[in-house]
Amino acid sequence: MTTTSRTTDARTRALADGNQIPLLGLGVWQVPNGPTTVNAVRWALELGYRHIDTAQVYANEESVGRALRESGVARDRVFITTKFNPSRKDPAAEAERSLQRLGVDYVDLYLVHWPQGGATRAWPGMQRAQELGYARSIGVSNFGVSELDQVLAAATVPPVVDQVQFSPFEYRRALLKGAQQGNIVAVAYSPLGTGHHLSNQTVQRVAASIGRTPAQVLLRWCLQRGLVVIPKSTHRERIADNAQIFDFTLSDQDMAALDALDRTNGTDRALERTWW
Ligand code: A2P
Repeated sequence: MTTTSRTTDARTRALADGNQIPLLGLGVWQVPNGPTTVNAVRWALELGYRHIDTAQVYANEESVGRALRESGVARDRVFITTKFNPSRKDPAAEAERSLQRLGVDYVDLYLVHWPQGGATRAWPGMQRAQELGYARSIGVSNFGVSELDQVLAAATVPPVVDQVQFSPFEYRRALLKGAQQGNIVAVAYSPLGTGHHLSNQTVQRVAASIGRTPAQVLLRWCLQRGLVVIPKSTHRERIADNAQIFDFTLSDQDMAALDALDRTNGTDRALERTWW
């Protein structure tokens, strides 16, 4: 065990349903099933990550499960998220298949991956998946404020998370505010802009001025803006680098300089364009 394990492990936030979500997770979008995913997840768990974010469409749940079992970390110490592929019919039946692939009895969080077929289409099935014990918490991803409002109006159990791309360049202030008003925790995917934001001059300047890496600056920005954050990497040293974000603070001035990078005009929408 390293110091990292103890510090990252303790950093959690309460969801509206009372469950706790670790502020930092490893994302495995676009990581192929097999050794690449197994290694990334195993390293993350060794380095103290206690939150792994996968999805049915990533097709790597099997490797996430394998890494979890091989890590020796107890199942109940790790927060696992997967997402319903909304081009499929039944969220509960698909959750059961995810559990088989992951080799676990439940996931901690189950999200509607995107609002295909309308914002409320999958929600009754998501609630059923939770009732059946397949998921401890349920939520959504890629939902803007108008879609969140529709789900909140129709739900018996409200969503507790909305996972969306957030970064200083995608600082969707109105969406963040709308989520907070609905008691929904916003989770930032692609916080490094899939790597593209790391070379930005402002990010690099801030990083150099405080002796941190550009990735740490972008991830720390998320924490200070009230976001849970799930950077992706397949390299051990980067997975380690990305976990060192709890031992420094960005100044108000640096935060303002980063905020000014926003290209969404503070939108309440989750996406610039849809892919379905
Ligand atoms: P790799 O997986 O080869 O390590 P995002 O989380 O925004 O989707 O960004 C992921 C991308 O950023 C991946 O291409 C990943 O590369 C790269 N990346 C992740 N962490 C770091 C880091 N600390 N330094 C440099 N590049 C990183």
